[in-house]
Amino acid sequence: MEYKRIAVLASGRGSNLQSVIDGIESGYINNAKIMTVISDNREAFALERARAKGIEGLWLNPGDFASYEDYNNSIIEKLENLHIDLVVLAGYMKILSKGFVQTFQNRIINIHPSLIPSFCGVGYYGEKVHRAVLEYGVKITGATVHFVDEGADTGPIILQEAVKVYQDDTVGSLAKRVLEVEHRLLPEAVRLFCNEMLCIDGRRVYIKDGGAL
Ligand code: GRF
Repeated sequence: MEYKRIAVLASGRGSNLQSVIDGIESGYINNAKIMTVISDNREAFALERARAKGIEGLWLNPGDFASYEDYNNSIIEKLENLHIDLVVLAGYMKILSKGFVQTFQNRIINIHPSLIPSFCGVGYYGEKVHRAVLEYGVKITGATVHFVDEGADTGPIILQEAVKVYQDDTVGSLAKRVLEVEHRLLPEAVRLFCNEMLCIDGRRVYIKDGGAL
């Protein structure tokens, strides 16, 4: 099987991007290459992480485009020119345009720091997710990797793993434990996708033999 060409979109720290880079370097993800890392944020450390590995780290400023649609279209064009097979959203803070999602249908995955469908959707990002978890008082949270559809965090779920909420948890301590899980789930989802081991049937994603989680 030919290797899969990945594009990562990230807006911040990029630790999830790093988990995919590491997964490829270690051979755990055995047939993929990150062709580009694109950010809407010039300061995103994700760009540094990419460049440190000789991967293109591209800042595309939404403010340089006449409309949000144009901004998305420029990314689509870039990704099509690179013949991208899989788009990984790794802490990407922008909502993708409808055209973007349609162009890469079933080929975009996102990592979210809760057990979807709880604590997700519009307004639930970053620390806000963990704060909401603590305020609600749930005893279990977790992480989810899912395909991206036109809604906010509504696409078919690929992998999930639970994380216990402790009585003395803070937003920071909870985020840290959930992040450890994210760093396992995302490379695994990428590996499964790149080995063509994922099968989408409506809302359900089936994993063919050999899935580790
Ligand atoms: C992660 O918690 C991810 O689930 C969410 O944004 C955060 C990004 O962290 N979508 P990082 O930039 O990958 O370190």
